[in-house]
Amino acid sequence: MEKSSSRKRESWGSRFGFIMAAAGSAVGLGNIWRFPYLTGENGGGAFIFIYLIFVIVIGLSIMLAEFTLGRRTKLAAAGAYKNMDKRWTFAGVLGVLSSFMIMGFYPVVGGWATAYIFKSFTGLLSNPAAIGDAFGAFISNPIEPVIWMVIYLATNILIVVKGVASGIEKAGKILMPVLLVLMILIGLRSVTLEGAGAGLKFMFMPDWSKVQGSTFLAALGQAFFSLSLGMGAMITYGSYLDKKENLPSSALTVTILDTSVAILAGIAIIPALFAFGMEPNQGPGLVFIVLPQLFAQLGGIGVIFSAIFFIALMIAALTSSVSLLEVVVAYLMDQKGMARKKAVSLAGGSMIITSLLSSLSMGVMSGFTVLGVGVFDFFDILTDKIFLAIGGMLICIFIGWFVKKEDIKNELTNGGATKFALFDVWYNIVKYIIPIAIAFVAVFGILSIPFKGLMLFGLAVIVVLAIFSKKL
Ligand code: TRP
Repeated sequence: MEKSSSRKRESWGSRFGFIMAAAGSAVGLGNIWRFPYLTGENGGGAFIFIYLIFVIVIGLSIMLAEFTLGRRTKLAAAGAYKNMDKRWTFAGVLGVLSSFMIMGFYPVVGGWATAYIFKSFTGLLSNPAAIGDAFGAFISNPIEPVIWMVIYLATNILIVVKGVASGIEKAGKILMPVLLVLMILIGLRSVTLEGAGAGLKFMFMPDWSKVQGSTFLAALGQAFFSLSLGMGAMITYGSYLDKKENLPSSALTVTILDTSVAILAGIAIIPALFAFGMEPNQGPGLVFIVLPQLFAQLGGIGVIFSAIFFIALMIAALTSSVSLLEVVVAYLMDQKGMARKKAVSLAGGSMIITSLLSSLSMGVMSGFTVLGVGVFDFFDILTDKIFLAIGGMLICIFIGWFVKKEDIKNELTNGGATKFALFDVWYNIVKYIIPIAIAFVAVFGILSIPFKGLMLFGLAVIVVLAIFSKKL
């Protein structure tokens, strides 16, 4: 998460530091909160299978493309495009907009996680039957979750205003491994519950009859979201890399780490869900309902498990959202000439407002909709179902069609020093397969979901950005 606060470009201290930072951005609420509930909502194994194919073919290739573009230009998202071809600035700005919008709902869930650290100690687990209702009552309350959201977002702001202090990196380095160990322990407990087998079957035996156009769109959006792709975060991280780094193996390592945490989270939650006889389509509340029920079964030590789990979840979220906030801040500083403090106040202040509306949309404002959805869903769906995927498509078109192949090859292989036998395979995937695949999934996916007005609005925003790109 290290970003330069001065104008001099910093670089990563070590390969390990870079991998941990990139993995820290990738591993977040997307893996632990979102992946299990999406799997539940989209029919289980078939969704996971399609998700894995997208991660391997599309996600991994785009991550490599983003690292390569970032390292070549040594600039963050908007600047990287602008530096190579002014007409493409909009693709970087679209990324900044995506970041801003993700930060319109991410802090709400980050706040829930923070609240559950404390709730672990104050009787959350004492009445397992009421855990589901308690969650519903909590998120729809107009005050309590807002306070937690503000605390969570303020933590982000304090970290980013300092120019990402070493504190968060250190916390990440310690707590991420703790999270991993905890997930394995919880997973073991989950699969050994009576009746857990049905959950494992649900996860790993694809039921193809559940697959629709929207399943592909959901899997594609999740691949982008979870790997932090399609909006320039990995371009920025690549820009701090030195010229000796082996880019393909770095991209592979980050992808494997991120995917393992997601699958582990699924194994921790879904078998438990089936063991407790709950429906898999619980939506966003899943992790906050099923895991506390599992912890409640562990007796006294369950409280400790619960607290540590939600601390680790909060930290995982924090290492991701700090990078999202930084993308907006870096844009305001680099392209609009703002000082860091001013940029953070403006970006963070706006995010408090958008997140406030998102939080209220779970309760008192649930009747208020924009283009058919509440505020929380507005930000979530627009980024997840359109902006990130189009952002990924744009970088592929840019690299495949607007940059010299030789230049890309040179950068990617460190001037020929690092062998990458699959270069031509990767290049053709980026140039042809990904743009076509995303167009295909987008069209069929969009046709099969009920928010067409919203989708058209999203596309219109992209067109407007492209037209006014000179002003960005
Ligand atoms: N990947 C993070 C998660 O899984 C979220 C995130 C951080 C992100 N940076 C991003 C998503 C950039 C898209 C783009 O929680």
